[in-house]
Amino acid sequence: MPCCIGNITTLRHLYIDTNRLTSSILASLWLLKDLLVLNLSTNTLSGSLPQEIGNLRAATLIDLSANQFSGRIPSTIGDIQTLSNLSLAHNALQGSIPESMGKIISLVHLDLSHNNLSGNIPKSFEALKYLTYLNVSFNDLSGEVPSGGAFKNFSSQSFMSNERLCGDLIFSLPSCPTGRQKRRKTRLAVVFSLLGITLLILIVTALAMYAIGRYRRKILVENGVDFAPGTTLRVSCYELLQATEGYSESHLLGTGSSGSVYRGTLNTGRNVAVKVFNLQEQNAFKSFDVECEVLRNLRHRNLCKVISTCSNPDFKALVLEYMFNGSLEKWLYSDDYMLDILQRINIMINVAYGLEYLHYNYSTPIVHCDLKPSNVLLDEDLVAHLSDFGIAKLLGEGESNAYTTTLGTLGYIAPDYGLEGSVSIRCDVYSYGIMLMEVFTRMKPSDEKFSGDLNLRSWINDSMPYAITGIIDSNLLGQEEHDTKKLRCLSSIMELALNCSMQSASERVNMKEVVTVLKNIKF
Ligand SMILES: *[C@@H]1O[C@H](CO)[C@@H](O)[C@H](O)[C@H]1NC(C)=O
Ligand SMILES: *[C@@H]1O[C@H](CO)[C@@H](O)[C@H](O)[C@H]1NC(C)=O
Ligand SMILES: *[C@@H]1O[C@H](CO)[C@@H](O)[C@H](O)[C@H]1NC(C)=O
Ligand SMILES: *[C@@H]1O[C@H](CO)[C@@H](O)[C@H](O)[C@H]1NC(C)=O
Ligand SMILES: *[C@@H]1O[C@H](CO)[C@@H](O)[C@H](O)[C@H]1NC(C)=O
Ligand SMILES: *[C@@H]1O[C@H](CO)[C@@H](O)[C@H](O)[C@H]1NC(C)=O
Ligand SMILES: *[C@@H]1O[C@H](CO)[C@@H](O)[C@H](O)[C@H]1NC(C)=O
Ligand SMILES: *[C@@H]1O[C@H](CO)[C@@H](O)[C@H](O)[C@H]1NC(C)=O
Repeated sequence: MPCCIGNITTLRHLYIDTNRLTSSILASLWLLKDLLVLNLSTNTLSGSLPQEIGNLRAATLIDLSANQFSGRIPSTIGDIQTLSNLSLAHNALQGSIPESMGKIISLVHLDLSHNNLSGNIPKSFEALKYLTYLNVSFNDLSGEVPSGGAFKNFSSQSFMSNERLCGDLIFSLPSCPTGRQKRRKTRLAVVFSLLGITLLILIVTALAMYAIGRYRRKILVENGVDFAPGTTLRVSCYELLQATEGYSESHLLGTGSSGSVYRGTLNTGRNVAVKVFNLQEQNAFKSFDVECEVLRNLRHRNLCKVISTCSNPDFKALVLEYMFNGSLEKWLYSDDYMLDILQRINIMINVAYGLEYLHYNYSTPIVHCDLKPSNVLLDEDLVAHLSDFGIAKLLGEGESNAYTTTLGTLGYIAPDYGLEGSVSIRCDVYSYGIMLMEVFTRMKPSDEKFSGDLNLRSWINDSMPYAITGIIDSNLLGQEEHDTKKLRCLSSIMELALNCSMQSASERVNMKEVVTVLKNIKF
């Protein structure tokens, strides 16, 4: 193996399977702590596996099968908690299977077959609840095969050719000796009485939770909160890797300040968006934590839901609901689609609901800080969902503003935020106003016609109220004689947008008022 491989510290995938590499594994390979996938299968590598294998903390897949490794399996392998696929098959490994492997909770596929392993199959393996494939065949294992957890699903194939294994669960294995059976009986008695007590506690807890849940849900449903049950789901980092075909280019949906978003399809067939945080970015860890914190606690039909997270020291991703119709930005500027006036009003009402909820319905106000059309996503029914909470701010108890140096997007940032770094819910109101203008004029605040004193806001202010037909997106007006009702409606929307984006924060309306005005607009 060329020695320089161990120097590529950013390496994530290493496939050098099916070659004729000899020698032992380079010591420096274990320094690649970002490595996700390591396939050294089918070579003639030899020597023993060192304790340092446990340094590969990010690895999801390790395949060292079909080599000539000898010695014991290092117990530190149990430290690779993200591992989901491990194969050490077809080597000459000896000694017992480390107890610590029962800690690799995300393990799905484990192959230790065709070695010279001895001793018991650790009882700790019963905790591996995601394990769907186990192969320890062709070894020298002995003692009782564990019977709990995933072991119920394994057939004799998994254990064949280990002369001294026994167990009652698996049909073709001999029963274990009677002395053991007696101990088993008393153990069973203890287990059953414990189970009985646990069951009782569980039932009481479940009943209590159910009652509380019903009560809470009733309240939330009355308030328009979408409380979809079963939205939290465990997805392993490895499943995400598969779902996005290794985060391939063809799955990339977009790249933002804190990371990239990929489309993925889970094993269940469900579509999701996977947001991978760019850990080179200085604030990435913080963005991840903020987004988790904000989104985990919020449930509203106009906010993007987090389905799951995948987090280890070197890799962080959020699994979000997939929005079939992409961003509002895409819809506004695409030539293939056209949103009519009613759809645009509905989208902006939905955004307003989402913001109102963020500002007023959490224990402390939450400021989104980066409101713009590319952060508004549309589901299959074109219902808007706010996304990208990476720089959101949770204002502390009794705090009405905070200071920051992470900025939103130019053109949408309120002057108080942009110039002074002062963050308050009024900043979102400003950005919302700018977005209202953009959605109905189809003109970006960053358009090149704006410079000096002329900006989107002053351009609209100057045309109000008489020259409104000159600024509104021509797709909305059509060729025919303008209908005065439509113009009146557009004109109040623009007036609202100006009221939202007043220079001075204290003069801006708030999101409750915005919701009231929009709901009452007659069209
Ligand atoms: C790899 O890194 C070691 C020190 O960590 C250095 O001595 C060696 O020259 C490097 N090799 C290459 C090929 O860069
Ligand atoms: C590693 O490489 C071998 C040989 O090409 C292949 O059979 C095996 O499926 C690979 N392992 C994984 C986990 O992809
Ligand atoms: C794990 O790797 C083996 C090859 O070593 C492959 O056959 C199997 O499909 C992999 N499992 C998953 C879940 O990808
Ligand atoms: C298997 O391991 C035992 C010691 O545990 C050793 O005596 C025996 O030679 C090994 N067999 C092979 C084929 O390596
Ligand atoms: C938000 O809180 C207000 C009271 O502060 C309440 O009237 C309203 O129903 C709540 N809305 C949601 C969606 O929870
Ligand atoms: C939005 O996406 C869904 C699913 O892809 C599609 O069926 C629907 O037609 C789209 N909505 C519109 C208005 O195009
Ligand atoms: C908006 O227009 C009014 C006159 O219609 C003017 O007094 C005001 O200064 C303008 N505001 C801005 C910010 O341009
Ligand atoms: C905008 O603000 C003005 C002055 O406060 C108020 O009279 C007007 O009704 C507001 N318009 C809208 C649409 O909110």
